[in-house]
Formats: sequence, C-alpha cells, structure tokens
Amino acid sequence: MATVHEKLLSSTASVKTAPPRNKITVVGVGQVGMACAISILQKDLADELALVDILEDKLRGEMLDLQHGSLFLKTPTIVADKDYSVTANSRIVVVTGGVRQQEGESRLNLVQRNVNVFKFIIPQVVKYSPDATIIVVSNPVDIMTYVTWKLSGLPQNRVIGSGTNLDSARFRYLISQKLGVHASSCHGYVLGEHGDSSVPVWSGVNVAGVALQSLNPDIGTSKDPENWKDVHKQVVDSAYEVIKLKGYTNWAIGMSVADLSESITKNLSRVHPVSTMVKNFYGINDEVFLSLPCVLNGQGLVEVVNQKLRDDEVAQLKKSADTLWSIQKDLKDL
Ligand SMILES: NC(=O)c1ccc[n+]([C@@H]2O[C@H](COP(=O)([O-])OP(=O)(O)OC[C@H]3O[C@@H](n4cnc5c(N)ncnc54)[C@H](O)[C@@H]3O)[C@@H](O)[C@H]2O)c1
Ligand SMILES: *[C@@H]1O[C@H](CO)[C@@H](O)[C@H](O)[C@H]1NC(C)=O
Repeated sequence: MATVHEKLLSSTASVKTAPPRNKITVVGVGQVGMACAISILQKDLADELALVDILEDKLRGEMLDLQHGSLFLKTPTIVADKDYSVTANSRIVVVTGGVRQQEGESRLNLVQRNVNVFKFIIPQVVKYSPDATIIVVSNPVDIMTYVTWKLSGLPQNRVIGSGTNLDSARFRYLISQKLGVHASSCHGYVLGEHGDSSVPVWSGVNVAGVALQSLNPDIGTSKDPENWKDVHKQVVDSAYEVIKLKGYTNWAIGMSVADLSESITKNLSRVHPVSTMVKNFYGINDEVFLSLPCVLNGQGLVEVVNQKLRDDEVAQLKKSADTLWSIQKDLKDL
C-alpha cells in the first residue's frame, strides 16, 4: 500500500544526496557556543548546523530545542553528537569548548586547562573537515589560536581567532553612545591582544572620514580634557563587569562570531579585527597571534591591512607578543 508520503508527493528527480555547501559546526554548547549557534541560525548562514560537546544530555537538549524552532529558521538540518563524524564537511568550525573565567580571573590564567581540551578537539575537527576554516573563541583566544594552528596543521589563512573583534565592537558602541551616531558609522579599531592589553588606535577613529583626532589632538591620551581614554578603559573592563553581573558573557560574542562567519560564507572580503599570525609584522619575531585588521572571505583570512601605528602602539603590540610568547614557549606537545 502506498504511504501518505507516496500519495501526496510525486518525485520529478531521482534523489541524490549531496554534501552540505555551507555547514557550520559549533564545538562547545555552553553560553558562548549557543549564542554563536542562535546568531548563525538567525542570519541564515548555514544549510547545516552541527553541535559537539562532551556533555551528552546538554548537547541533545540544545539540539532538540533548536530543532523545535525549525519552522522559524532556514537551516534545514541541525545535528549534534559527541562523535565528531557529525561535523563532517564543515565549511566553518567555531571552537568555544573549554573553561571560562571565574569572577576576577584573567583570561591568560585559563591557558593550560584549555590547551588540554584543544588537544582533543582540534585533531578531530581537522580529521572530518580538512577544508574548514576554524574560528577560535575559547580564551585566552590569541594563545588558543596559536595552539589551534599548531595542532591542526592548517595554513594560516584558515585559522582565525575572534581576537579583538568583540573589543572593537564594544569600542564602537561606546563611541556611538557619546556621539549619538549608530555604531556602524563610528569607525575604529582595537587591535593587539584580546582583553587587558588591547590597543585602541585613536588616530583611525572617525565618523564619515572625519578623524576625531583632527578635532581633539589629545584624544585618547591622559592630556585629553574630555577623557576619551576612558572609553577604552570601559572596553577592557567590559567582560569583568558583565561576568560580575551575570556570570559570563555570550550575546555580543555570539553576534560577532556570526558576523565573521558571514564574511566567509558569503565571500564578502570585509575587514575585521581578528587574531592572525603576526610574525614579521611591526618588528615582532615570534610566532604569536594578535589582532590586526584582516580581509575575510571564502578563502578565510586572506590579507592583512597595513596600518601605520604610533611608536607607543607598536611598543604595546610587542609587549603583548612577548607576554604571549613567554607563555607559549612552555606549552608542551603542540
Ligand atoms: N574570544 C572572546 O571574545 C570570548 C568572549 C566570551 C567568552 N570566551 C571564551 O569562550 C569559552 C566558552 O565560554 P562559555 O561561557 O561558553 O563557557 P561554558 O562553560 O558555558 O561552556 C563551555 C562548554 O565547553 C564544553 N567542553 C569542555 N570540554 C570540551 C571538549 N573536550 N570538547 C567539547 N566541548 C567541551 C563544556 O562541556 C561546556 O558546555 C571560554 O574559554 C571563554 O573564556 C571568549
Ligand atoms: C571570492 O571573492 C574573491 C575576491 O573578490 C574573488 O576573487 C573570488 O572569485 C570569489 N570567489 C567565489 C567563489 O565567488
């Protein structure tokens, strides 16, 4: 007897199964991973979303909850498993697995715990998606991006750290609040190390091409009567403040990761401040990852914008590079 399916639908093509074209995997379904997942879903970036974690019940619960929203989504396949075969053929893999800061804890303090987690995650990711671009989110993100590059054996263009993409978004939001102009029209970059020693590039801050520094030559310095420097201080304090208030940060990082993913899946060649290998840039001699403005498209991170930085800004980048290298050089088995 014909089934309802057979009676209802007459096929016009022989069914062929083709691999997904824009599959995105999120590793780690904690607060950050799920914020990335929902942001990616709501932007219709993926034809398939895969989730991986070690907590099987949590993983299945999150998968079912998202699947139940399928009516409102345009991502027809949502899968999850602790086995990485579920991630096969991903175009992008977002890695958020591991531990996060406790109240008052620095990002750098997390390093060894998360390196051990990545030694398990990264080889599995590459095994099933050798052509993927990996976006690293776990902290300390610049070091974890280096660790991912080492463990994956992937070329530099396909290992990207979310870096100061979030710091720059916070910076632009805070400037927008001071000027009453939407953040997307307040241009400016926070570069270098994600977090405590990030570098705000005041010379480049502008609205419609008008450099704020041309209106206030002391902007960003301690001589500035308007104290714009405080905007960057607030950026640095943001994560600590939010963690103190709600225990973790997730929404803004999730949206910023979806924005990076969009530049890749849609081959946009947009510029984002993200963490990349900076050896030979600005006189840095070690293999460290720091954020510079980078062009992202379907090939991953394809170009770095050469930006003229002041001597003190370069000095800060070098100092971060030294700090990161002093930690990285002691990491074993990479
Ligand atoms: N780069 C940024 O701007 C930024 C911003 C916010 C948070 N973070 C970082 O993102 C990471 C995740 O934060 P969170 O708040 O989601 O933490 P969380 O504790 O809520 O979630 C972490 C998840 O990772 C999973 N996990 C642990 N080991 C794993 C493994 N071997 N394989 C797969 N999954 C594993 C855990 O089970 C958990 O579900 C932290 O390192 C945090 O510091 C980065
Ligand atoms: C992606 O964009 C680049 C740069 O504009 C272009 O050269 C390339 O052909 C594009 N790739 C695809 C698949 O469209």
